[in-house]
Amino acid sequence: MSRNAHPAGPRHGDVLPAPSQSARPDDVNGLDPAIWPATATRTDGVLELGGLPVTGVVRDHGTPALLLDDADARARARAYAENQTFDVYYAAKAFLCTAMARLVADEGLGLDVCTGGELAVALAADFPPERIVLHGNNKSVDELTRAVDARIGRAIVDSFTEIERLAAIADAAGVRQRVLVRVTVGVEAHTHEFIATAHEDQKFGFSLRDGSALQAVEAVLDSPSLSLAGLHSHIGSQIFETTGFEVAAHRVVTLAATIRDKHGVTVDELNLGGGLGIAYVPGDDPEPPKQTLERLRGIVELECAAAGMPVPQLSVEPGRAVVGPSMITVYEVGTVKDVMLDGGVTRRYVSVDGGMSDNIRTALYDAQYTCVVANRASDAPPVLSRVVGKHCESGDVVVRDTWLPADVRPGDLLAVAATGAYCRSMASNYNHVPRPPVVSVADGVATTVVRRETEDDLLRLDPGVTA
Ligand code: LLP
Repeated sequence: MSRNAHPAGPRHGDVLPAPSQSARPDDVNGLDPAIWPATATRTDGVLELGGLPVTGVVRDHGTPALLLDDADARARARAYAENQTFDVYYAAKAFLCTAMARLVADEGLGLDVCTGGELAVALAADFPPERIVLHGNNKSVDELTRAVDARIGRAIVDSFTEIERLAAIADAAGVRQRVLVRVTVGVEAHTHEFIATAHEDQKFGFSLRDGSALQAVEAVLDSPSLSLAGLHSHIGSQIFETTGFEVAAHRVVTLAATIRDKHGVTVDELNLGGGLGIAYVPGDDPEPPKQTLERLRGIVELECAAAGMPVPQLSVEPGRAVVGPSMITVYEVGTVKDVMLDGGVTRRYVSVDGGMSDNIRTALYDAQYTCVVANRASDAPPVLSRVVGKHCESGDVVVRDTWLPADVRPGDLLAVAATGAYCRSMASNYNHVPRPPVVSVADGVATTVVRRETEDDLLRLDPGVTA
């Protein structure tokens, strides 16, 4: 039984983590193109990204640092935008700053925000408000008011209390706010598994099973200041199989048919949420967006045909699949320690200058990552190693099991792949470690898009600091 975690989702005591022991690589210097950003390459042994050697980037920007391969992120966003039959909202929770908001806007995507903070960044980037959807199970009156005042396109309602609040706020603003009702479809999907029943026990959405989803739709229909745009469901994250979406689509389309039959109202939009998986380690096998979207459309078309309904406007909210593979984190190695385990086996601990404050996913979800020595290629044989951070707890692991060259040493740079999603956005100041910058690299130019936090930034929050 797992200690606590699932590779990419909320904690489930009943789901075993994927085995984390990676296979010995043929080439310890290799950069698997399924895992590393598109422009990642080695020149004279040094890892390059966006046409720049990472050694030079970190000389200027320090370590740890997240490097964003701008071309890679744009290409991924574009791959979603190209399917013009879907509206695509980038899920800001994966990673957001004004540059990222502008990048997705440029590439034709909308934006899913779920807090006032994310909304503030979007508006600070002049993101077109009509292309913003607002999520959240506990949006405050202030957040709802700011969203309505900004004239966001859609709010995804999540509780009866919120429907009342939003109706009053929209009424006061003289706005008819478009809303989608978030439906709890009883499907929980992660990676290659999904559970089609018994996942009602969570905080999001309105249950189909107890009829509250239909009641929520009715509450929206009864509110003159709200208009029902459609239905929303989100079934999980880091999903590779579309089977979970099939079950979810079936259940949501059934609800749409009930709404039509009972109220003569057509559901115009169906938002299938996010969750599309990416490759973190060899063997992870996500489909390209084109195929996934076509498959999702096919699923909904079948369901709608069976229910005798026109296919609604479809939308998705990928976060991880847009930005996850586009960033790497570069750390500097501080110490290398071989620890004797039971049975005379040793484990190599490679300590880097960041850790669970810039990537909590390993500790929280048993997430797996791929990493390489970035400042040089090595001929040394691979040694099974554990990359750990500098925080004061033993769970501070960045990469649980990875093969690094035997000659890895203090001063080397380590690059961890696929850290674009939910690393900087979930970063903390644990142990008063300032959070790392995000540096965008493109065509040989490095641009800071999130600056490094400083100890002064942290001290500024403490009114007791003496001058
Ligand atoms: N839409 C909704 C309503 C969501 O709740 C989420 C993610 C997304 C879209 C975007 O999902 P994505 O395409 O990025 O999988 N912190 C976890 C992931 C939590 C995802 C929460 N909701 C992790 O690090 O794996």
